[in-house]
Amino acid sequence: MSAQQVVIIGGSSGIGLATAQRLLEQGFEVTIAGRTQARLETAKTALGHAVRTFLLDAADGTAIPQVLSSIGSFNHLVLALGSSKGGGAFATVGLDDVRQGFEEKFFPHFACAQAALPLLAPQGSITFIAAVTAHAAMPGTAGLGAANAAIAALVRVLASELRPLRVNGVSPGVIDTPWWDFLSDEQKSAVFSDYAGKTPVGRVGAPDDIAQAISFLISNTFMTGQTIICDGGLSLGS
Ligand SMILES: NC(=O)c1ccc[n+]([C@@H]2O[C@H](COP(=O)([O-])OP(=O)(O)OC[C@H]3O[C@@H](n4cnc5c(N)ncnc54)[C@H](OP(=O)(O)O)[C@@H]3O)[C@@H](O)[C@H]2O)c1
Repeated sequence: MSAQQVVIIGGSSGIGLATAQRLLEQGFEVTIAGRTQARLETAKTALGHAVRTFLLDAADGTAIPQVLSSIGSFNHLVLALGSSKGGGAFATVGLDDVRQGFEEKFFPHFACAQAALPLLAPQGSITFIAAVTAHAAMPGTAGLGAANAAIAALVRVLASELRPLRVNGVSPGVIDTPWWDFLSDEQKSAVFSDYAGKTPVGRVGAPDDIAQAISFLISNTFMTGQTIICDGGLSLGS
């Protein structure tokens, strides 16, 4: 039987890259897409396998159908691209920032899933990566949480509407990836140590913690319409 094909948009870094690594080890054929050629090439070298790479800015609605068609048909789509915009206290967060968060995450996820439909195998799957902010009452995350909750809301609707295609989501907690590079090393280490203290398992996550959840949702053909909150228990509160 030929290997199943997975396309990971946002596969050149962090959670998407760890997912590519894990799925390659499991025998899937993997294509990764992102906006930066150099990042894609570094990822390809790190993965050390016959990974295909495609340049795609998923915020560019007109480019998506064309780029996805050039990839050809595939079995599974993983949407691992995101945004760090829209965080901050509700009283002061700027509407433009919140809007940008939706433009950089919700609409690209929506548009990529839509454009992938003619290319996806009917028994295949879509996995959206949302975030714990969609589910937890964490002060300072109203804007971020709304964009991620909008993605989580797609999961059950699409799983019902697009059957037998399976549609699932993973909502990560705090994961040590380049997503946090808007902070200095010193700030990052203080933030991670604070989150580790608030997280029942006593640490922040590694990208492969989330890759394991994604791989499970892709491989288990009885899973659809579910969002796994993989956050070390952060959303349980203190
Ligand atoms: N890290 C966390 O703590 C955390 C927590 C909760 C949720 N998440 C979510 O998990 C997902 C993965 O995040 P991560 O931590 O792995 O981030 P990351 O390390 O910054 O990786 C993001 C990936 O997405 C690509 N990307 C970004 N914008 C894109 C666009 N418009 N079109 C195509 N590719 C794009 C990036 O490559 P280019 O920049 O080259 O395009 C990169 O490959 C995101 O949705 C994020 O919101 C992360």
